Amino acid sequence: MMRTATGKTFALSALIAASFMAAGAMASDKTEPRNEVYKDRFKDQYATWHDTSESKEVVDALAEDPNLVILWAGYGFAKDYNKARGHIYAVTDVRNTLRTGAPMTDTDGPMPMACWSCKSPDVPRLMEDKGEAGYFAGKLGSGGAEVVNSIGCSDCHVKGSPKLRISRPFAERALEAIDMPFDKASRKDKQSMVCAQCHVEYYFEKGEGRKGWVKFPWDKGVTVEDMEAYYDALDFADWTHALSKAPMLKAQHPGYETWMQGVHGKNNVSCTDCHMPRVTNEKGRKFTDHKVGNPFDRFDETCGSCHTQDKEFIMDITKERQKKVKSLQLTAEQQLVKAHFEAAKAWEVGATEAEMAPILKDIRHAQWRWDYAIASHGVAAHAPEEALRILGTSVDKSADARVKLAHVLAKHGVTGPVAVPDISTKAKAQEVLGMDMDKMNADKQKFLKEITPKWDEEAKKREATY
Ligand code: HEC
Ligand code: HEC
Ligand code: HEC
Ligand code: HEC
Repeated sequence: MMRTATGKTFALSALIAASFMAAGAMASDKTEPRNEVYKDRFKDQYATWHDTSESKEVVDALAEDPNLVILWAGYGFAKDYNKARGHIYAVTDVRNTLRTGAPMTDTDGPMPMACWSCKSPDVPRLMEDKGEAGYFAGKLGSGGAEVVNSIGCSDCHVKGSPKLRISRPFAERALEAIDMPFDKASRKDKQSMVCAQCHVEYYFEKGEGRKGWVKFPWDKGVTVEDMEAYYDALDFADWTHALSKAPMLKAQHPGYETWMQGVHGKNNVSCTDCHMPRVTNEKGRKFTDHKVGNPFDRFDETCGSCHTQDKEFIMDITKERQKKVKSLQLTAEQQLVKAHFEAAKAWEVGATEAEMAPILKDIRHAQWRWDYAIASHGVAAHAPEEALRILGTSVDKSADARVKLAHVLAKHGVTGPVAVPDISTKAKAQEVLGMDMDKMNADKQKFLKEITPKWDEEAKKREATY
């Protein structure tokens, strides 16, 4: 099209300019991990995001329900497990929990880099810098000075833009595996998919070449049975139970998957519709409330935007469902606790591997299902029938295990019921397992005093160069 000499020059300089722009755009496309950068530009979004700090209460789930200590015996969750709170605390909480131990050096365990994956926009930044393999290599401590900004803008947004994005390649691959690629998704789907980067079931791969990578076990589908079949086919276990020796699965938080099974998910009512409603600022302009928290705090803009019933009525329905789920949850736990102690007894009196194998499989499945249901935080609100259905199958599988255990125990001379020790408090349950909590707590305090301030200092220096 450009025929004249001047035209050619123009085309050439336009080309050069374009390539400069592309280079500039490439550099500026890099993830901005700092949330504060957007404080003035996106005032309402930033301010409401910052308000997640108001959900600051730490609720000790093990103290509330000491059964959990026994169910997770031999695994990190038996040490310490608090309920979820505001997004702004994610980095603080992963540092504080006893599960991450006290990594005094970059190479100390116990946990891998993968534990940072759902905590911070520094994660996509690091993946860009080092590649995924580079990011996942090494222990948690090696990322301490790098992962410092809590869950924020760049986890869900294209840099400096309202446009939503998937910032984790492992989440992108998982969505493709279930034929829901993000790029082709509707706006509504995207509003839930950004949450699905973290509020899902996942595990750390063990195979060569991808050791320690995060993967969602969705290749066979996204129901509890599909994922169980997936893990069974891999012979995957997160840990061996300290009492029963069963090869256990730890469910993470399959909130996205269970939401899909509920009436709202089926109607594509998005996570955002209830947890990040459209609201009006003091100038009368609409924006998205970024204080991700309890939807009942803004009833009129959340539930009330679709339902005509009043707040009290709808809250009562939710509370009733929470009570029903809790009650069946406790039934499932009591059966599982007994099964673990009975299996431990069976080993003690000489049960064989062959006798125990089918029992351990039942225990594995029963606990996976129980955990799947309750670790899907909010499940009683999102998909109560699905929660009750899954918990029902858990009780059933525990019953199978316990019938088989009664036979094996009788064969080895144990006829009466197997005693369950006093596990009525968190401390007593941990003592039954012989856990040295004083040492773990002392190590953690030393780590928090000596190491995390250094991480923060180093991060500050690095960020000053951005
Ligand atoms: C957990 C995911 C998530 C995080 C974290 C997040 N956003 Fe958003 N953001 C959303 C969603 C979802 C929407 C609504 C998108 C839609 O309407 O389809 C949105 C919308 C927006 C919009 C468009 C205008 C509006 O209010 O709807 C802006 C601007 C924005 N966010 C800025 C920010 C900033 C700045 C931060 C960090 C302080 C941030 N977001 C953090 C998910 C997130
Ligand atoms: C980058 C990972 C990540 C993303 C993306 C994410 N979350 Fe979270 N979310 C977390 C973590 C981690 C916690 C627990 C934080 C803690 O307790 O320190 C959490 C906590 C929560 C809580 C509990 C808050 C409270 O105050 O009790 C809710 C509700 C929640 N998320 C909903 C959502 C919704 C809805 C989305 C999408 C709009 C979303 N999250 C996106 C990781 C994420
Ligand atoms: C974007 C619209 C929308 C929002 C927001 C919304 N709902 Fe719904 N809700 C629906 C739809 C659609 C159904 C299915 C109704 C039907 O099929 O008649 C439904 C059904 C229900 C039902 C009855 C069906 C059942 O068994 O669960 C309850 C209870 C309910 N919603 C509670 C809530 C609560 C609580 C909130 C807020 C936290 C909420 N909804 C927010 C659209 C919405
Ligand atoms: C129909 C409205 C609705 C939708 C849609 C919805 N939620 Fe919820 N969510 C709730 C309600 C109601 C609660 C329970 C609040 C309470 O404790 O009373 C809740 C609780 C939660 C919790 C637990 C918070 C805590 O501190 O225990 C998380 C996490 C969560 N939702 C995440 C999500 C994610 C992720 C999605 C999308 C996959 C989603 N929610 C979709 C209404 C909804």
